[in-house]
Amino acid sequence: MDKEKYIKQAAADFEQVLREQLNRVDRMKEDAGQADFANMERIVIGLLGGDGIGPIIMKEAKVLLNEIFTEEIKTGKIELREIEGLTIENRLAKNQPVPNDVLEAIKACNVILKGPTTTPKGGSMESANVTLRRELDLYANIRPVTIPSENIDWMFFRENTEGEYVLGSRGIEIPGTLAMDFKVTTEPGTERIARAAFNYAKSANKNHVSIVTKANIMKKTDGNFSKICNKIAEEYEGIKAEDYYIDIMTANLVNKDIRSKFQVFLLPNLYGDIITDEAAELQGGVGTAGSANLGDKYAMFEAIHGSAPKMVEAGLSSYANPSSIFKACEMMIRHIGFKEKADVLDRALKICNEEEKAVIVTGDQRGATCEEFGAYVLSKLNN
Ligand code: IPM
Ligand code: MG
Repeated sequence: MDKEKYIKQAAADFEQVLREQLNRVDRMKEDAGQADFANMERIVIGLLGGDGIGPIIMKEAKVLLNEIFTEEIKTGKIELREIEGLTIENRLAKNQPVPNDVLEAIKACNVILKGPTTTPKGGSMESANVTLRRELDLYANIRPVTIPSENIDWMFFRENTEGEYVLGSRGIEIPGTLAMDFKVTTEPGTERIARAAFNYAKSANKNHVSIVTKANIMKKTDGNFSKICNKIAEEYEGIKAEDYYIDIMTANLVNKDIRSKFQVFLLPNLYGDIITDEAAELQGGVGTAGSANLGDKYAMFEAIHGSAPKMVEAGLSSYANPSSIFKACEMMIRHIGFKEKADVLDRALKICNEEEKAVIVTGDQRGATCEEFGAYVLSKLNN
């Protein structure tokens, strides 16, 4: 093996990566402006089906949105715009994680609702999610989880554009010898997600934020994440910031004696990814939790689960649970300023998933199809 050749190439690649990241930091410092939905004449909601069970759950989401926004669609205040082409087949054919024309169509919308997309394992094709989060600068991944019977009301603020994700497909590999990936924490990138979490805590009257890292091991990246979050915490009187390591926090979430004391979680990207699946499972399954990806200009809403290829393979896709994408709809409806409509949907979802839980279930239990469950939620919108 020609070690020197690899070292030279890797050093050149790293220089490029570092330059790009420093440019990104500069861009973050520029003011991108805030979307002002209240004063928009027309709000365009882009709808993307995705892969696997994506189009199946998105079909029900469309029915739901058409029902909730019947009036607004008529008057032109809301437009539901279907965007084709974010499929694994098209992405592979074009060799682009998000084909240019699809990205352009997405950028012409104000917010998007997206079905899960399949990410090829290995290789160099980046995940569509990660690409969209970066291209639209969707830095805050917000995932609520509630278990009312235990008084659990958790809100996760996952940093969504940095950490292990930002250079996930840009690692170094010496075949048969060594592989190395990069993790990035920046000051403005951490400050903005920390502010989002503390602002939420303040507005929701929460007095505790858990900063979750592995700063004892990832000393530079997680070390800085924790330090910067603690610095931002000082601006918020009456809200206690407390550091936890991710390993013990995953244990804490299954500890019934203490878990209800947690309120707001603030985490780097990968830990946020992992722990929100755990939390969603505790709530009733990954099929039940919604996810908001917020930036200053754009926002993307999605289910927190993936495209479920195993379910598709087993011929069970028509039993996919649309609750997660419905929850994402609720978050989107709230985000664009229709609080009352969001409350109505929230109420319907609570009836279907919590209060009347035994009546109709989807997913592995195969109680109801996605379509039947969709109709069930729709029937509860007037309760
Ligand atoms: C999520 C998903 C994504 C992630 C995948 C699909 C890239 O797991 O939104 O949590 O890892 O962020
Ligand atoms: Mg995930």
